[in-house]
Amino acid sequence: MSKVLRAFVIQLGVFAVLASGVYLMPYWVSPPYPIWVLVLIQASVAALISCKLGLPCWWRWIQFLMPWGLFVAFELQINPWFGLAGFVVLWLVFANASKERVPLYLTNNTTRQAFRALIEQHFVQNEAVENASSEGSDHQAKPVQPVHFMDLGCGLGGNVVFMAQQPEVKTSIGVETAPVPYLLARFFSGLRGGQVLAQDIWKTPLQDCNFVYAFLSTEPMPRLWQKVQLEMKPGAVFVSNSFAVPDVDPSEIWELSDARQTRLFIYYL
Ligand SMILES: C[S@@+](CC[C@H](N)C(=O)[O-])C[C@H]1O[C@@H](n2cnc3c(N)ncnc32)[C@H](O)[C@@H]1O
Repeated sequence: MSKVLRAFVIQLGVFAVLASGVYLMPYWVSPPYPIWVLVLIQASVAALISCKLGLPCWWRWIQFLMPWGLFVAFELQINPWFGLAGFVVLWLVFANASKERVPLYLTNNTTRQAFRALIEQHFVQNEAVENASSEGSDHQAKPVQPVHFMDLGCGLGGNVVFMAQQPEVKTSIGVETAPVPYLLARFFSGLRGGQVLAQDIWKTPLQDCNFVYAFLSTEPMPRLWQKVQLEMKPGAVFVSNSFAVPDVDPSEIWELSDARQTRLFIYYL
């Protein structure tokens, strides 16, 4: 059962018990009962049992605040269409949060500078060093290996645009299925470079990419690693921001000096 559905079922269950209590209560205490007391009971009980019934414990805050949100909306007589509109807007932005367990958060500039360093290290410098040592010269450098970049779940397209502007990058593509991020990414890449496709990660071939980047969550990593191994060619590089592939040693881990202390897990195929 998805977490959202589980949370809803818990609220419904508590509501059913509370409604029975209210039905029986007149035998002992005569009504009316203050609504805010009932809301307090609903919110507190739902919050207390959620963790025990399989929701992550931090969801207790959501479970506690949800009944209060409804109560306040009723008290202020807020038109329910606003709630629906809010839900639709959230879904258009975070469509992959419930299905793929991947919300939208963005790569920062420090990380993009690390992309540059990785290009230098893996696609330029290594080539030059290998070539120089094989030919016994310190000064000869082979042409750079062209970079074919793919951002799996490209959000607003910032990485795609950045990479499209790097001289070593021949193609820079992002795929995205959440409607609002996709449209924005498409707009920015149309203005500033790169290509953004409305395409599912799992239907995106990786054979032609030699630099694949993902900033997703822990959930899809095992499946994604299978895809990477199956489709990417030797010599290519797969980079995951913050989420390592379980039970696989990365070739390198880069710890960046940004505020969130980003860790890049780098896998050379
Ligand atoms: C954490 S954000 C990262 C955005 C961007 N890559 C960045 O680093 O700035 C992850 C993105 O992946 C998208 N996503 C998740 N699952 C996806 C899927 N199966 N197909 C396409 N996009 C997906 C989400 O909609 C979200 O925009």
